[in-house]
Amino acid sequence: MDNVKSLDPLQLDTKEVHKILLSSVAPRPIAFASTVDLKGNVNLSPFSYFNVFSSNPPILIFSPSRRVRDNTTKHTLENAKETKEVVINVVNYSIVEQMSQTSREYDKGVNEFVETGLTEVPSLKVKPPRVLESPISFECTVDNIVSLGESGGAGQLIIAKVIQIHINKDYLDTEGNIDSEKLELVARMGGDWYTKANKESMFKIPKP
Ligand SMILES: Cc1cc2nc3c(=O)[nH]c(=O)nc-3n(C[C@H](O)[C@H](O)[C@H](O)COP(=O)(O)O)c2cc1C
Repeated sequence: MDNVKSLDPLQLDTKEVHKILLSSVAPRPIAFASTVDLKGNVNLSPFSYFNVFSSNPPILIFSPSRRVRDNTTKHTLENAKETKEVVINVVNYSIVEQMSQTSREYDKGVNEFVETGLTEVPSLKVKPPRVLESPISFECTVDNIVSLGESGGAGQLIIAKVIQIHINKDYLDTEGNIDSEKLELVARMGGDWYTKANKESMFKIPKP
């Protein structure tokens, strides 16, 4: 027991809690979220508070938090509230550097596709464009936004329903299924660490 550091989150700085959570709950998949504001200005940003939570209906949830520093909100959250649409693109190793660059705090209205050289492709059912270079993209409507608090660090859950799926055929196997080895998806860990899923890191466990 002496070897265990035991902590009450209420006694810690938000920054410290944030660090522990991000290093412990890892690796986390990355939602590369494209949104537009009411004027049609495009925004693209990554979020690793992200996962799939339902297959029927198909629901993805991600969370642009209030900034710990100054309690401001992210453009992605504002856009999702305004227009109720988002395209969630998955991130693989070939676009990880550009994904990282889009997380800079650009002014509102700046298009991160243009800043990072990624290619916009018009969506079929929603206004935000998808990322051509991403292997898989999900066009979504925003069903609900759940605020988990009003202070800095509070998550704002964007509950998104998938209404159209785009899969680059280069990432399919001969049977037409998504080939996880080809995908090389990346995920976020603590600090500056990322990981990639490829032949060397992946393994199978047959269902018991
Ligand atoms: C890999 C990665 C994952 C991130 N995950 C989150 C997240 O889950 N929640 C969040 O609020 N910010 C996250 N960020 C930071 C945002 O991307 C960053 O604040 C960005 O500037 C927000 O852009 P926006 O204001 O245009 O929406 C992440 C950054 C990176 C590089």
